[in-house]
Amino acid sequence: MSRSERVIVETVTTPPADRRFAVSLFSRLRTAKGQANPFPIYAELRSRGAVAAAPWGGHLVTGFDVCDQVVRSRDWLEPDARWREQQGDGTRWTAPSSREMSRTLPALNPPEHTWVRRSAGLFDRGSLDEIRGMTERFTTKLLDNLAERLHDGEADLNDLVAEELPVAVIGHWLGLPPADYPRLRELTHDQVFTQELLPSASQLALSDAATAELRRYFTDLVRLRRARPGDDPVSRWIKVWDGMESDQDKADEAVYFLALFVLLAALETTTTLLSTTVLLLLDHPRQWDRLTVQPDLVPAAVEESLRYDPPTHVISRVSSRDCELGGVEIRKDEMVHLLVGAAHRDPAKHEDPELFNMHRKPAHLAFSGGIHYCLGAPLARLEAQTLLHQMVTRFPQLTLVRRPDWAPRVAFRRLLNLDVTLA
Ligand code: HEM
Repeated sequence: MSRSERVIVETVTTPPADRRFAVSLFSRLRTAKGQANPFPIYAELRSRGAVAAAPWGGHLVTGFDVCDQVVRSRDWLEPDARWREQQGDGTRWTAPSSREMSRTLPALNPPEHTWVRRSAGLFDRGSLDEIRGMTERFTTKLLDNLAERLHDGEADLNDLVAEELPVAVIGHWLGLPPADYPRLRELTHDQVFTQELLPSASQLALSDAATAELRRYFTDLVRLRRARPGDDPVSRWIKVWDGMESDQDKADEAVYFLALFVLLAALETTTTLLSTTVLLLLDHPRQWDRLTVQPDLVPAAVEESLRYDPPTHVISRVSSRDCELGGVEIRKDEMVHLLVGAAHRDPAKHEDPELFNMHRKPAHLAFSGGIHYCLGAPLARLEAQTLLHQMVTRFPQLTLVRRPDWAPRVAFRRLLNLDVTLA
């Protein structure tokens, strides 16, 4: 029996009919076809109520207000190191990659979370202004490249632009050598499996190997920056942590976890936002055309993309006590999976939720909420807005050549290609 199958068998508490329904639903969702359009599957799940039992134990939440309530409440905790250890050896939660993730910022709970988050000090207005010019330059360069390819016919915008911009921006900000970018991107694609909803044993093995390589890479980086501090975030974190922690090894370890997580958090998610936003607009040519004449609507288009199909479809929490959620009883330490991709289409929250409409100014949970609200949201928005702004100005005639392919995942959306041409 594989590790992931064992997890399912060990923790089942759901009535057989519900379990069968949810199992068939998730096997559809985890395919490339399911990822190309997961929303009808979410609608089926929602028809069972805002909170439904998950086949492997725990609960699936599709109601927007309930998801919002959970991310904002202190009664719900991240599945931290203590919780993961309780799940026992041989489960996905004690895989080396999961243990490593349990020490990064989004897996911490207060009080540790509070001081680590404060130490990160990411992206205030001043630092964002510095990054803005660099983001604009990188975007222009990548679009020059795209223009050259389009001159000869079609081009893969995902590969040429969406995969490149986030690593160029975060790599430059962290002061990493550009020669390392392709490897860092590959490692991130593998590492993310440990954060997936139901990783298979082989996916976990890939994630474990990627995590080990990333540990070597970023511990070396911290060592180098300690020896030769510069004007960069890693050197600044070393200074901050030296003021908080008298043991230098522990300070360096804390800086390593910050650098590691910032890279992991910044790559796939932003890439997916960039390509999904372009895809949605090419699928809605009237709105694309409108942007070409009214580019001040670009921020609104990015927000609607974040609602309509966010890069992360699942956020998980565990209950700190026995409670009731959306009319369902939940026991202490049980997990809830907030299916934010589904919650964003909740008709109780948004009118005509299946309609992509950049004029709606939507509430969304793409960047979570409460104390774990994404620290990189301003940067992700900056990249998406910069790209879209330049694209509608330079390529008003852009069209889609064929439907793109999606990676077979559930939590972290990933487009594999986005083939475009000039009409
Ligand atoms: C479109 C792009 C992005 C999306 C959709 C996204 C999404 C998220 C979500 C959903 C969370 C919260 C997870 C939870 O509640 O458990 C989160 C946390 C976080 N994100 Fe992002 N993110 C994006 C880009 C970035 C970037 C570019 C960075 C950094 C450069 C970043 C850094 C972080 C950090 C440090 C946290 C942890 C916050 C905490 O736990 O206190 N993210 N992100």
